[in-house]
Amino acid sequence: MILAIDGPAASGKGTLAKRLAAHFNLPHLDTGLLYRGVAMVLLDRGEALTDEDAAERAAQSLSPALLTDSRLRDRAMGEAASVVAAQPRVRAALVAFQRAFAAAPEGAVLDGRDIGTVVCPAADVKLFVTAAPEVRARRRALELSNRGEPSDEAEILADIRIRDARDASRTDAPLRAAPDAQVLDTSDLTVDEVFAKALALIAIAIQDCTHTRP
Ligand code: CDP
Repeated sequence: MILAIDGPAASGKGTLAKRLAAHFNLPHLDTGLLYRGVAMVLLDRGEALTDEDAAERAAQSLSPALLTDSRLRDRAMGEAASVVAAQPRVRAALVAFQRAFAAAPEGAVLDGRDIGTVVCPAADVKLFVTAAPEVRARRRALELSNRGEPSDEAEILADIRIRDARDASRTDAPLRAAPDAQVLDTSDLTVDEVFAKALALIAIAIQDCTHTRP
């Protein structure tokens, strides 16, 4: 079973994806970490985020060991990731890695921006997790302050709006729900409620595909 979980920054897709992976005993890939990883390599080397040749090289040689670096979760890295993620050659280099991960025999849970639209268009279940920008800014501020990072909610909201606009307006794999995705608005839901709703949507989707498959 392949579960594709997409959505904008701090919508709760990562928390949901982790929980679904544990529940179904499936491997989980937070694909945002790949883009954050490319950005981190460029910043560490003093190369420009907009240098497509350098970004493509970094994407092609991204080491899985680097994906555990705690700096990847910094707020600035999310912004930098969104700049490199707009580059088609970076996306092309990272799609292969994501598809290989999704090809695990038992299936996988992947979360990101384009899993249901580009990386795994044939996923068994597609969820598009979203929430109001103000709610997402509050959640991200809490997450950052729990990690000891400065967390000005107004600044975070401004960042989120810029990043949403950049992610949704890029020409290659823009952030959007796949036509066959179930939209899950988490603005007024607790983590447990989101999980319960997702399980219900998955149960329906799986039933539908067993009915339609010969
Ligand atoms: O956790 P948060 O939602 O803030 O960010 P993330 O999922 O780690 O993604 C960071 C950035 O990487 C996003 O703003 C996107 O620009 C990019 N990204 C992407 O383009 N495609 C993906 N499948 C995942 C992330």
